[in-house]
Amino acid sequence: MTQKIKKAIFPVAGMGTRFLPATKASPKEMLPIVDKPLIQYAVEEAVAAGITELVFITGRNKRSIEDHFDKAYELETELEMRNKHKLLQLAQDILPPHVSCLYIRQAEALGLGHAVLCAQPAVGNEPFAVILADDLMDSEPGALAQMVKLYEQQHTSILGVENVPREATGSYGIVETALQDNGVQRVSSIVEKPHPDVAPSTLAVVGRYILTPRIFDKLKTVQPGAGGEIQLTDGIAALMKDESVLALPLEGTRYDCGSKLGYLKATVNFGLKHPETRQEFSAFLAENPL
Ligand code: G1P
Repeated sequence: MTQKIKKAIFPVAGMGTRFLPATKASPKEMLPIVDKPLIQYAVEEAVAAGITELVFITGRNKRSIEDHFDKAYELETELEMRNKHKLLQLAQDILPPHVSCLYIRQAEALGLGHAVLCAQPAVGNEPFAVILADDLMDSEPGALAQMVKLYEQQHTSILGVENVPREATGSYGIVETALQDNGVQRVSSIVEKPHPDVAPSTLAVVGRYILTPRIFDKLKTVQPGAGGEIQLTDGIAALMKDESVLALPLEGTRYDCGSKLGYLKATVNFGLKHPETRQEFSAFLAENPL
């Protein structure tokens, strides 16, 4: 399999209950970090990695994601009339013209593996990426670009991984790896959300995957696993029996924006880097120590 990675799946059908009431009527993926919604960071990371087709697996209450990546005629006309060119550009430049979007509804939230399977008609027989927007990655080059680089050498499935504290293994897919002669880590086992006492390691899968299309066949037969859901992790465990799956420790900082604490940390750190806020915000933090 030597095809280029052109398509990325964004599973965005989740209910975002950890952010209620903010997510009662609007998607958690639209929560902003400074001035951009989480999903836009994920999309920008994908585009920077060479992705040209974005496949969103959506659900009810997710219309604003579609609107965000669409043209906003009224807003654009208004900004143009008022000569607000900089703002107009911000509204227009969300996606480069060569990138297209596709939306597929996941009627029932049956799990991440099921969400990925919903994308099969759009992905077909090509390798593809999966990005979970909750895991906001701050790195240069971007996390997915790091993985695409490895894919171009190895042509097989790759999981983005990171070491986590042992007490946190119950929140992640956890892998065991073996170092190959070429210095690349091959996954030898994977398990979804193991209790810290039985976790085979502390190497966690973060929300970045490159997968070969054979995963779809595996997901079709996977039975509900942890939490009663069809888990992507279980599909990957089945895939590993046929093909090698690699783990790539990602460079950079990950913010778990699915949790309030991670979201706040990301907001502070991105606020300290944003050209419009960094000076005054860092002065504010210096003047107001806890
Ligand atoms: C999902 C996956 C898990 C992975 C995690 C990364 O879990 O099922 O394997 O480690 O994303 O964020 P979730 O966070 O959706 O419960």
